[in-house]
Amino acid sequence: MAVKAVEIRNLSFSYPDGTKALEEISLDVSEGESLGIIGPNGAGKSTLLLQLNGILRSNSGSIKIFDFEVKEENLALIRKEVGLVFQDPDNQLFMPTVFDDVGFGPVNMGLPKNKVEEAVHQALEEVDMLELLQKNANHLSFGEKKRISLATVLAMQPKILALDEPTSNLDPKHRRGLLDFLKKLKITKIIASHDLELVLEVSSRVILLDKNKIAAAGETLKILSNEFLLTTHNLEVPASLLK
Ligand SMILES: Nc1ncnc2c1ncn2[C@@H]1O[C@H](COP(=O)(O)OP(=O)(O)O)[C@@H](O)[C@H]1O
Ligand SMILES: [Mg+2]
Repeated sequence: MAVKAVEIRNLSFSYPDGTKALEEISLDVSEGESLGIIGPNGAGKSTLLLQLNGILRSNSGSIKIFDFEVKEENLALIRKEVGLVFQDPDNQLFMPTVFDDVGFGPVNMGLPKNKVEEAVHQALEEVDMLELLQKNANHLSFGEKKRISLATVLAMQPKILALDEPTSNLDPKHRRGLLDFLKKLKITKIIASHDLELVLEVSSRVILLDKNKIAAAGETLKILSNEFLLTTHNLEVPASLLK
């Protein structure tokens, strides 16, 4: 049987102001699987991703990452396993240079200087950003920041990659580069996106969230070709599936 990378049971979550964001979510993700999370604005997609490494935590329900429950004493370990790229790159980048941003994780993991440099170079190469090594991320475009944010996570070599709207604001060349990279990357992937063509290419299974709940789940092609289901939830069938 496949190893479970993520096990979510009856997870509910409300923000401190009382806004309900997740209700009774149960979900398993197998190791090596690529899961897409789709759904209209405000469905709870980002909130769900933020639960995976305990940035947001709920008292109601449970999440396990491999054998470890997401709780205080496991957070350091879990954050090594789950690399989360935020929807907004400004929440991810805070160091004086791109090099320092991408090196932050490896430095914190205690890697020696040459290994940090190696990890930074490799990660930046993967997102085609090596030439901006000495820039301050504040001075980059949103799409460039998204790519740097992904590099900060790749540099840590996580076992699970959780991506929030990874293609937003990417130019077509770099969107294609990201898709091809993700298709080759064999680790567990959980990708929240409105870019349904990306989901179609990269994810084998999809969950559709709406109003804080799982509205549908299944094989990607089946969900993404269901016009009634998608339009009911403010989405549309990707152009490549239209006859
Ligand atoms: N920090 C916050 N405080 C209060 N409500 C929030 C906060 N962040 C998100 N929400 C609300 O939680 C719900 C889910 O949001 P979110 O997870 O960002 O949805 P999605 O990523 O699917 O667009 C929405 O109703 C949103 O307005
Ligand atoms: Mg979101």
